[in-house]
Amino acid sequence: MVLEEIFKKREAVRNYLEKDVSEDLIKKILKLASLSPSAGNLQARRVIIVKNPAIRKKLKVTCSGLGRFTIEPPVIFVICSVPEESAIRYGDRGRNLYALQDATIFASYLQLAAVSLGLASCWVGSFDENKVSEILNIPKNLVPVVMIPVGFSEEEPGEKSRKILAELVFKEI
Ligand SMILES: Cc1cc2nc3c(=O)[nH]c(=O)nc-3n(C[C@H](O)[C@H](O)[C@H](O)COP(=O)(O)O)c2cc1C
Repeated sequence: MVLEEIFKKREAVRNYLEKDVSEDLIKKILKLASLSPSAGNLQARRVIIVKNPAIRKKLKVTCSGLGRFTIEPPVIFVICSVPEESAIRYGDRGRNLYALQDATIFASYLQLAAVSLGLASCWVGSFDENKVSEILNIPKNLVPVVMIPVGFSEEEPGEKSRKILAELVFKEI
C-alpha cells in the first residue's frame, strides 16, 4: 500500500470483527512504530499489550473513551511515557513535553502501521490514568498517555471532515 493510501485509510474505527490479531502482526506493528522519532533517540515510552478479555472488559467499563465501541477489538496497546527517562537529559522539557511527544508520535506511527497491515484502530485519550495504571498494574514511572485498540474493521470507510487549509494555516511569513 502506498503511503498516501495509508494516510487516507486511517480512521477512527469503533466496530471490529471478532477476529484475532496474530502475534506476528502485533510484532510487526510494534517494530514499525518503533521507527518513529524520539527526543535524542531516548525512546522514553513503553507499551502494554492488553489481550486478556477480562482486563479489556475492565478497561471498557472504566474508560469513557472506550464507551462508543460496540464491538471491541482483540488487542489494546496502552502507550505510556517515561518522563524521568527524558528528564535525565532534558530536564523539565523532557519530563513535561518530550516524553509525551515520544509516546504520541509512537502511537501515530502505530496507527499507520496497523492500516498498512490491513488492520484498523482508534486513538483513545479519554480515561483516568490513575485508574488505568491500577487495572494494568503499571509502575509509577510510566504514565499511560493513549490507548490504541487494534483489530479488523467491521465498518465501511466514512468521509473525513477537516479544516480547509485557509483555516489550518495561521499565517505564512
Ligand atoms: C487526542 C485524541 C483523543 C481522542 N480520544 C478519543 C476517545 O477517547 N474515544 C474515541 O472513541 N475516540 C477518540 N479520539 C478519536 C477522534 O474522535 C477521531 O480521531 C476524530 O474524530 C477524527 O476522526 P478520524 O480519526 O476518523 O479521522 C481521539 C483522538 C485524539 C487525537
